Amino acid sequence: MPLPDSFMQDLKSRNDIVDVVSSYVSLKKRGRNYVGLCPFHNEKTPSFNLYPENGSFFCFGCETGGDVITFIRKIENLDYMEAVRFLAQRAGIAVPETGYDDGLSKIRARILEINRETAKYYHQILVSETGKTGLEYLQKRGLSSRTIRHFGLGYAPSERFALVDHLRSLRYSAEDMIAANVAVRTRSGSAMDRFFDRVMFPIIDLRGNVIAFGGRIMTNEKPKYLNTSDTPVFQKSESLFAMNYAKNHCTDSLILAEGYMDVIALHQAGFQNTVATLGTALTSAQARLMARYTKEVVLCYDSDEAGQRAASRAVPILRGAGLLVKIIAVPGGKDPDEFIRSHPSDGAIRFRKLIESGANDIEYSLSKIRLKNNLQSDAGRVNYLREAIMVLASIDNELERDIYAGRVSSETGAEKTTILAQAKNQRRKDLKKREEKSFQKIENSLSFVRDDHNPQKHEFFRASNAEEDILAFLFANPDQAVAISDILSPDVFCTDFNRRLYKLILERINETVTTSLSLSDFSESLSSQEQSALAGILAKRSDVPLTRHDIEECIGVLQFENQKKKTRNLEDMNSEDFQEYLAMLRKNKA
Ligand code: CTP
Ligand code: MN
Repeated sequence: MPLPDSFMQDLKSRNDIVDVVSSYVSLKKRGRNYVGLCPFHNEKTPSFNLYPENGSFFCFGCETGGDVITFIRKIENLDYMEAVRFLAQRAGIAVPETGYDDGLSKIRARILEINRETAKYYHQILVSETGKTGLEYLQKRGLSSRTIRHFGLGYAPSERFALVDHLRSLRYSAEDMIAANVAVRTRSGSAMDRFFDRVMFPIIDLRGNVIAFGGRIMTNEKPKYLNTSDTPVFQKSESLFAMNYAKNHCTDSLILAEGYMDVIALHQAGFQNTVATLGTALTSAQARLMARYTKEVVLCYDSDEAGQRAASRAVPILRGAGLLVKIIAVPGGKDPDEFIRSHPSDGAIRFRKLIESGANDIEYSLSKIRLKNNLQSDAGRVNYLREAIMVLASIDNELERDIYAGRVSSETGAEKTTILAQAKNQRRKDLKKREEKSFQKIENSLSFVRDDHNPQKHEFFRASNAEEDILAFLFANPDQAVAISDILSPDVFCTDFNRRLYKLILERINETVTTSLSLSDFSESLSSQEQSALAGILAKRSDVPLTRHDIEECIGVLQFENQKKKTRNLEDMNSEDFQEYLAMLRKNKA
């Protein structure tokens, strides 16, 4: 059963799309609409557009669009009902009990419950007699009982069915345990514990849900860590360990480390703004998540070669999300956890000093190319200058660029003004290249060649454009619906997708007396991809409003194209089909 209309109306009117979006995206007013940097892909020039009049957003760069519910679904990574609940909570209204819930949201809820029970169970075991080896291991690694409790650490016992038996006693099905990936299926088809004889690190999302586990073996056996695979509630490339705590301590900066133990040791030492990825390279989704909470990231990867390589790969991803980046190298080939522990009395103070003396990524890049070139030789200096100018050109802030140009000048003896001019020149070239690229993207999207939701579009190119004009016009002028539907039957539409939208829009206008339509009016009848497509149709026509006269022309085009479509079908028929067609005509006459 769908949610009642009155509730949906209430939900929408209390969650103004401009208010909601502006808590994630910094918006600039442009005419009646707003623009900003798209939160769904990395970009430097804004192509994310917000249209308050019809409650929709659309990004011309990545072609994501939809209404306020879709926006929340995508940015908070929620399903439809969860997004509705999220917005209801934001507006302080109750979601009516309708029994409506899709299958996915039910299984997600069950997985989260199972994860919570599992975390509780492993923690209880850790502090019981059975968990003694686990507890001793963690204590040996310097963790206090307070830290162990804070992070909800646990121990998975060495029997193969301990957790499965426990969860079964709580009436969870084997299917659900396997779906949560806390159990695996044995050859005989039953469920067996996924983790045994490991210390357990629960991974908790921003809302406090246990979404996954990492389990460390206590010997030198492999694999050192075993992690939950991706499940309906967990995507490791989008989550960050300890972000649930760090988000409340990171107005200035976040520290990004590599491992669970580094994060825990740093939190215990007072650096509660530390997070880590989950054993994978940093992704732009994770960078954007950090950028929502802080402005600077201090990269503190292991000082081994792999760690340093990972750090240089992370820099452009973080910068791409608009973050400032600082890099620190932990001395003595240690990881942050080992560093803190190797200075029992003043580890925290020393680590704070490391952060303070940490180079930002510009210094880091410059120092790397400085090491490559011999500044004593002319050739080395020239090469260094050339590479340094590329680095300087990537700095957005002029003051910052000026400072580093000064430094490069004193290192090489070249004039600062010349260096700055060269950097500016390079920058213009880079920007131009970038603009051409993003313009190309917009061109592509405007030329409508690729459209997964309306596969008939390239076949009926002219007609589908006319159809979309009509849809956009109706959206903005629902009062004209009766007049248009009188002269334009849905049958005249050439593409099925647009015909369906046309019918939906007419239905919706018929049902409610309304002066304007909002994209949310269709949130229950369209999938989120279809909504994106509709948002695109509207966005691409928002600059020049269509007139009634345009629409009459469009209707003319449609009628013409539809006729053509019919005759084309006749041409394509083989003689058998044609006989059948004639028979049908005769029957219809009779
Ligand atoms: N990792 C993993 N699977 C492995 C090894 C590592 O998922 N087989 C991930 C874990 O998230 C781990 C991180 O990569 O925390 C960093 O690995 P590593 O530096 O080897 O582990 P530490 O966190 O330093 O753990 P410890 O100090 O206990 O060795
Ligand atoms: Mn370590």
